Amino acid sequence: MLVLALLATAYALGSLSGSLLLGRLRGIDIRRQGSGNAGGTNALRTQGWKFALGTVVVDVGKGVLAVWLALRFGAGVSWLPYAAAAAAVLGHVWPVFHGFRGGKGAATLLGALLLAWPWAVAVMLGTWLVVLVIGGYVGLATILAAFALLPFALIEGAPAERLVFAAFAALFILYTHRSNVARLRAGTESRFERVRLFAR
Ligand code: G3P
Repeated sequence: MLVLALLATAYALGSLSGSLLLGRLRGIDIRRQGSGNAGGTNALRTQGWKFALGTVVVDVGKGVLAVWLALRFGAGVSWLPYAAAAAAVLGHVWPVFHGFRGGKGAATLLGALLLAWPWAVAVMLGTWLVVLVIGGYVGLATILAAFALLPFALIEGAPAERLVFAAFAALFILYTHRSNVARLRAGTESRFERVRLFAR
């Protein structure tokens, strides 16, 4: 019962989308702009850095909170923090408060891992930065960052629940980024344009 309550809470927290809530204050729906994604990258692309920062703080923060609750009240159930992380990410992608049309889950995944698996955050951020600098595509960097989790888990000799979560994260992030993959293949994916974005 407690486990179910914690997972439902994690899903509900995940359903609080930073860009969609801030968008309501600004009178816009980010899903109608740019790439159509309700996430930090599209917030930066279409609304500027302050809106994007607020989006990332909410989306990372809810992942942290979902896992913190699982660790604090989960009675030491070893897989629960990972299940709560997954529930928060699922909530972000299919948010009950926003018509089940949310973002792609990367920031929430990162926030959830801050407490559940801190070194994985360093691995993800390192991979993300290298791929972004070399390739220039945020979506590709995010997919490869998620895929870096599984080899890292194997090298680390991670327990089963961590391995399962790493496999889930890679496949799920690939799934949520399927439109980015299609655009990359078609040569229409937009590049990260630092100078133009921060000039707002
Ligand atoms: O996690 C989202 C990011 O990786 C890609 O966002 O707006 O370029 O589809 P976007």
